[in-house]
Amino acid sequence: MAAGAEIVYLSRADVEGLGMSMREVLDAVDAGFAAKGRGQTEMPPKPGIHTRADCFIHAMPAYVEEPEVAGLKWVSGYPPNPAKGLPYISGLLVLNDPDTGLPLAVMDCAWITAMRTGASAGISARYLARPGSRIAGIVGCGVQARTSLMALVETLPDLEEVRCYELLPEVTGRFIEEMGALFPALTFTACDSAPAAAHEADVVVTAIPIVVDPSPELDAGALKPGGLAVSLDYDSAWTGAAMKECDKYCSDDVGQMLATKEHGVYFKDIPSTVYADLGELAAGLKPGREHDDERIFSMNMGIAVDDMVTARVLYERAVERGAGVRLPL
Ligand SMILES: NC(=O)c1ccc[n+]([C@@H]2O[C@H](COP(=O)([O-])OP(=O)(O)OC[C@H]3O[C@@H](n4cnc5c(N)ncnc54)[C@H](O)[C@@H]3O)[C@@H](O)[C@H]2O)c1
Repeated sequence: MAAGAEIVYLSRADVEGLGMSMREVLDAVDAGFAAKGRGQTEMPPKPGIHTRADCFIHAMPAYVEEPEVAGLKWVSGYPPNPAKGLPYISGLLVLNDPDTGLPLAVMDCAWITAMRTGASAGISARYLARPGSRIAGIVGCGVQARTSLMALVETLPDLEEVRCYELLPEVTGRFIEEMGALFPALTFTACDSAPAAAHEADVVVTAIPIVVDPSPELDAGALKPGGLAVSLDYDSAWTGAAMKECDKYCSDDVGQMLATKEHGVYFKDIPSTVYADLGELAAGLKPGREHDDERIFSMNMGIAVDDMVTARVLYERAVERGAGVRLPL
């Protein structure tokens, strides 16, 4: 990457138009996790500001040595937004030249966030799901659920069935219609509760709003032996008892999870022992799943390394194709 006196600006449409596939995002994110596991990343726990109840705007910087990329995502999550016709997640991502620090690009980060979040669920499945996993349970049928399913399709070759639960039945209907068209070989079932969606599922992904005072519906026993739970929504969906009955508790960033817990708002009742960081699994430093009947939990908070490794591919493709708008610094 070489910086000049201008930056590349990529709108959401520009970013999407670059056509990066979920498989490519998975490859980038897996490599990012492996770099993290090898200690080749710098990623301080994300600070945030909170302008309204249950709303956040987070600063997420990261440097990855190999493949080299540096930058910052400034991303907001506002639960009241969907009712206003606005996205829950929005924001911008800035890439910097690692040699000079000069900004190289500014891009919309909603697509990147959704794709790398889904990819993180796929990476959890790659290392932690039971081989032969056939049934996915999805709780909360929004943006992150869609990309998570895209990633599960890539990483679970035997996936046949998706059981979904969502607060709003019309949203479940839309999810099934859209994802059914994308993956016609899968069978979709609308469930009337989160436990019903999780029952018998080999992999359960939860992606409901993160709130300060959650009422989780998934309690001990909801995840079957041999199941993998991937939480994209902190501790909103699963109770402490459900997390503690798991044989292995993992996270995409153990340091960030424990730093967040220290603030005393989230993760009050998580297990005291964390088995592994996904980076350690991707780097081959620890085994992932070792037995068919292990219950495993992956708490994926979302990490800036995933954003940067994805944005790097997009930036290079944009430069190659002359996509986006050049703006003077
Ligand atoms: N971990 C990460 O990397 C990461 C990244 C982005 C977003 N997120 C989080 O993922 C979650 C979902 O984000 P999104 O962009 O998909 O939002 P979204 O608004 O598109 O989807 C959330 C869905 O959950 C449904 N819902 C709300 N309460 C529910 C409940 N109790 N049971 C079942 N369904 C319920 C909503 O109706 C909505 O359809 C948020 O908590 C967000 O902060 C995590």
